[in-house]
Amino acid sequence: LSRGYHEKVISHYENPRNVGSLPKGDLDVGTGLVGAPACGDVMKLQIRVDENGVISDVKFKTFGCGSAIASSSYLTERVKGLSLDDAGKIKNTEIAKELCLPPVKLHCSMLAEDAIRSAIRDYRSKRTKTSDSQQASYIDVTQNSTAGQTPLAQA
Ligand code: FES
Repeated sequence: LSRGYHEKVISHYENPRNVGSLPKGDLDVGTGLVGAPACGDVMKLQIRVDENGVISDVKFKTFGCGSAIASSSYLTERVKGLSLDDAGKIKNTEIAKELCLPPVKLHCSMLAEDAIRSAIRDYRSKRTKTSDSQQASYIDVTQNSTAGQTPLAQA
């Protein structure tokens, strides 16, 4: 990183928090994988959500510039302990302000905003699929029992 970056960016860049991965297949894990069209940088951000809908763990891996790494590192600290709704409201402008990013680096913080939203979407779609399949098996059971009752009703 060149001189002129804010010390918070350098701190997160040199000592990024919460680097790593969570098991993608876990039902309580949401994964966001996003890219910045402007530069091709890529960010993966994963959240683990507890039974109260609160983010209990966050991990990230960013293949990108120092500002993108700092943005994702900052965001992981920011969203831990938040509800999904609150985490989804975080704007890139807040990240950019916190890290004092220059205008040319605003898209790096946008990548972090996109990544958390994408992780939340992934988590929610996993949950929806699970409850759909539970409902489907419930309907099957009902249909079977109705079918079984028909001959009795006729008799
Ligand atoms: Fe593209 Fe920072 S230069 S994410």
